This record gives sequence, C-alpha cells and structure tokens, in this order.
Amino acid sequence: MNIQVVHDYGQLCDAAAYIIASQVITKPDSVIGTASGGTVLGVYSKLVDLYEQGLVDFSSVKIFNNDEFQGLDKEHTQSRFNLLSANLIDRININPDNFHIPKGTAKEDFPECKRYEKSIDAAGGVDLQILGIGVNGHIGFNEPSDFFAPYTYLADLNETTREANVRFFGHISKVPQKAYSVGVGTIMRARKIILVAEGEWKAQAIKAMIQKRVTPQLPASILQFHGNVTVIIDEKAASML
Ligand code: F6R
Repeated sequence: MNIQVVHDYGQLCDAAAYIIASQVITKPDSVIGTASGGTVLGVYSKLVDLYEQGLVDFSSVKIFNNDEFQGLDKEHTQSRFNLLSANLIDRININPDNFHIPKGTAKEDFPECKRYEKSIDAAGGVDLQILGIGVNGHIGFNEPSDFFAPYTYLADLNETTREANVRFFGHISKVPQKAYSVGVGTIMRARKIILVAEGEWKAQAIKAMIQKRVTPQLPASILQFHGNVTVIIDEKAASML
C-alpha cells in the first residue's frame, strides 16, 4: 500500500482529486467506482473545480457508484443517486447514461445485484475505485462479517453505520436497514484503488486496515492483498500508525 499522510482535509481532497483527474486525462474512457459518504464530497468538489478550469474532460467516463440504500428511489433526498448527482454528476460533462448505480427500489434483490455486477463487467471492469472507510472498517457497505462478499449484494447495515448516517437522514428511524453494495470481490477486481479518510474517529480503522491481520471482521484489511492501493489520510486519521 502506498500511504500518503497529508496535513488536513483540504490537502486530502486536492491529492485525491489529482489522482482521479490524472486517471481520466491518461485514459479518457476510464471506468470509475465512486464512494458516496461525507469524506469524498470535498474530493468531488475539487474535481469539479478541475473540470471547470478545463483540465479534465468526463465526456467518455463511466461511473459506477458503490451503493444505494434499499427502498429509496432516485428522487429521495437522501438517495445516493441524489447525493452523487448534486455533488458530482450534474456538475461535470459526464453523459448521464454513463452514471450507474444500483436501483434502490428493485422488486427483487438478486436479479438487481446480478444486473449491476454484469454492467460493471460489460464496461470492462473498474479502472479506478474510490473508497472511504467506516469507523468499523467497512468499505462500500461491506460490514464486518465472517466472509468477504464476492459480488454486488444486498447488505445489512450495522448500527454504527446507520448511526453515522443520521447526519444525512435526521433521525435513526429514517436510516434504511439495508443497502445494495458492490462486494469486497468487486472492489478487489478494480485495477487501481484510492481510499481516503480524515479525523481521529477513523484512526483505529486505519491502523487495523494497514497494520493488522487481514480479516473479514475488518473488511478494508483485504486491501493489503491488492497490488495498487493509495491511501490518503490526514494527520489525525494517521495518528495511531
Ligand atoms: C458509502 C461508502 C462508505 C463510506 C464510509 C465512510 O457510499 O462508500 O463506505 O465511504 O462509510 O463514510 P464517511 O466518509 O461519511 O465517513
């Protein structure tokens, strides 16, 4: 793993956005996997700046978002579709048909997961996967578990994850219990991965991810087995290394 410790969140956003921009500049038809928690929003804002400066052209890029809450349609204010649209998709020149996300209101979960996984394959697989990390070490919505999910699936959200999302939904009762998520296997098939984290509340998870044994109880630890991972963290998130 390539670990970059930066001073603060502003630098983290700059560093991550430059990596994404250089990916798109060197391969204009890149397939990008996006995370959609709070940490990546500043990264996307910086990316929009680079687009507005005329440095990056997204017209041939395909984006596959990591997840969507089950039961939320696209119009729901807290859908991941809306979050990504407002913070990135609607602000760059990507073809809207090239923005992919699991359908939160799919009638049956298994066919939807299969469809999503197949559409990633049909696009040629993910060139660059962007990740955040949960305080419990989740990536995408792959929570601590006894196994690593190989493909997209309907994941049960942990209480800690639901609580972390109260800031978006206003009240715990409104946070969905489940989300469609790419599997750990889907993430590991990406050719390149960047993971971003800021703040002391992530320090424990970052330490376990980098320095402890690989285990599905700390899903992000599997990234130790990937050959091309860059971790960009601020000094607080790096404080236990
Ligand atoms: C959600 C996702 C999650 C988040 C993680 C960190 O799409 O990918 O894995 O990246 O929960 O979230 P924040 O950045 O809000 O702490």
